[in-house]
Amino acid sequence: MTLSNPVSPSEPPSESSSESPTTGAVPGWPRRPGGIAYGGDYNPEQWPEQVWREDVELMGQAGVNLVSVGIFSWALLEPAEGQYDFDWLDRVLELLHQGGVAVDLATPTAAPPAWLVRRYPEVRPQTREGVVLGPGARNGFCPSSPAYAEAATRITEQLAKRYAGHPAVVMWHVHNEYGGHVPACYCERSAAAFRRWLADRYGDLAGLNRAWGTAFWGQRYGEWEEIEPPRAAPTTVNPAQQLDFLRFSNDAYLACFIRERDLLRGHAPGIPITTNFMATACKNIDYWRWAAEVDVVANDHYLQAEQPENHIELSMTADLTRSLAGGRPWMLMEHSTSAVNWQPRNIAKRPGELRRNSLAHFGRGADSVMFFQWRAGASGAEKFHSAMVPHGGTDTRIWREVVELGADLRALAEVRGSEVAAQAAVLWDWQSWWALELEGRPSVDVGFRQLMLDWYEQLWRAGLTVDFAPPDSPRLDDYPLVVVPNLYLLTEPAAANLARYVERGGTLVVSFFSGIVDADERIHLGGYPGALRELLGVWVPEFRPLRAGETVRLRAADGPPGAPLTGDVWAEEVQLHGAEAIWSYEDGPAAGAPAVTRHPVGDGAAWYVSTRLRGPELATVLARAYADAGVPVSPPPAGVELVRRVGEQDSYLVAINHSDRDATVAGQGHELLTGADCAGQLFLPAGQVRVVREAAEPRRS
Ligand code: GAL
Repeated sequence: MTLSNPVSPSEPPSESSSESPTTGAVPGWPRRPGGIAYGGDYNPEQWPEQVWREDVELMGQAGVNLVSVGIFSWALLEPAEGQYDFDWLDRVLELLHQGGVAVDLATPTAAPPAWLVRRYPEVRPQTREGVVLGPGARNGFCPSSPAYAEAATRITEQLAKRYAGHPAVVMWHVHNEYGGHVPACYCERSAAAFRRWLADRYGDLAGLNRAWGTAFWGQRYGEWEEIEPPRAAPTTVNPAQQLDFLRFSNDAYLACFIRERDLLRGHAPGIPITTNFMATACKNIDYWRWAAEVDVVANDHYLQAEQPENHIELSMTADLTRSLAGGRPWMLMEHSTSAVNWQPRNIAKRPGELRRNSLAHFGRGADSVMFFQWRAGASGAEKFHSAMVPHGGTDTRIWREVVELGADLRALAEVRGSEVAAQAAVLWDWQSWWALELEGRPSVDVGFRQLMLDWYEQLWRAGLTVDFAPPDSPRLDDYPLVVVPNLYLLTEPAAANLARYVERGGTLVVSFFSGIVDADERIHLGGYPGALRELLGVWVPEFRPLRAGETVRLRAADGPPGAPLTGDVWAEEVQLHGAEAIWSYEDGPAAGAPAVTRHPVGDGAAWYVSTRLRGPELATVLARAYADAGVPVSPPPAGVELVRRVGEQDSYLVAINHSDRDATVAGQGHELLTGADCAGQLFLPAGQVRVVREAAEPRRS
């Protein structure tokens, strides 16, 4: 064990063969590798040293050029308080460097060591029910614990000082998936920090009592000390209090990130810093706020393996991640080569699926393809999780696919830095998600993520590429169409933003139970849908949620009588206040009332969908909105995904056939994976991916 000086490794090898020349330069992007980054989480500490040499050799074979190291290594780097052992990490980095593999070096603070937890019991997080969580897993820390903060600062500083100038280190990977496993801590230290956060937000208790509506159930607070986190209570805890606690917990984790980020920046200016997000999967982190704090947006994605068309949810996550990155390229930091170990049934990927998944992320703007993990573990909780090097070694299908993917990514190096062309925007707001799913709502069947996915699926099937945006985005005018699957919580300024968008010519489509409460979880009074009433030109005195399994039929109000649409979950007594009815309820609790409406406003139009529609029926309604917005739609063959990345010089069509039937799509140019040219038509065999450098003029101005 040593406390030695920072390492001075041998001179770096010249640009390795696995690295391709850089084309696009993305601000904040690591200086190496060039081309598309390829690799994964590397855990050499789980293996004897002779395996490390084999690892680096195999990385060379696969074309791996970037690995994340040390993510959970705190106990090995600091085996006892203040005693450090960096020798092993020095040797690992040196080996990787010699092998031409760049390093995304992690701060290990997601895995507090056992000595820390034992010596400072305050580090242990506490659940809402008061259960104190023990060591032996990971993420076992309270984000408001001073002892944790001190220890995390110390190890981060040691790493920063030692490796800031290391030529292998091109990027910092702070922590791991903040907010994962422990969405919030309810201990006494968190309670005290929550009170300080509330005092900052409200200034005085009168402001807090007003915002939380504490006249209800006599919850008035006379002293700050009376306020607790929303711990387990006899029944529903004040919803505004719950919402503020979610905000506070998000901020508490963000403060942990910023503390480490600033230390690293101080010691190693110029090395980009990221932390891995879980974009659509993590409810409790408001990634719009986090995205502004990282140099490069990085995301982890795992398929919902049992879902038959899980590639659609993958696309949604990739589009959201790209949007968090402001449209610039982003890093896929983790996904899996095959099965994970934590779903109820861990379905293995079929031949070719690894490639389709990886290139789907790439098509939607990822300039890195990374996996959890490099080598499948022999011990521990994740030993049945797939990896780039499986338990069975290199004579395996997974390894062969990993090597082939490395070759694919080298062939695609020139695409790096290009951006994705989108035709519409979908609004996504974490705080509205939190509020929507608190208790005491009109129906338990209204879930944020499912609504987003239902609507996204139809846009995907129509062949539209979408960006996501927050409701107060100043960039909505970039899109002819903006879609709102749900925005239960909407502030007045954000509602005004949507109204401005429509007045200036935009087409907005809003689905039910949107615009209902403000940031304090207080109803926008005067009838539903509150903050959107005027814009949508409707007035709703009462919601009419449906029984489980109950459906309602909708009849087109004009035009040729088509088959009725079927809605479920929700109906409303919609009254027209300027809008016209496009479909009306034929039966059910709102029979005779308008169901889908359109309101012309300024140069645009605002549509309202007052029941839950899904599948082809939702597609039917959306088709009207596409036409209204002037968005051209030409759906690709079933199961085919077409996305365009646009660079300074060229544009690239990424075509993925997720189906088991061959397809042909329009395509003109040079195909980068097969080297073939296509003139007008691109043959897309079942299960295959093609990337065409298009002959047409580039689109980016
Ligand atoms: C991620 C996590 C990794 C690994 C992986 C397994 O959420 O960051 O460390 O646990 O899941 O799928």
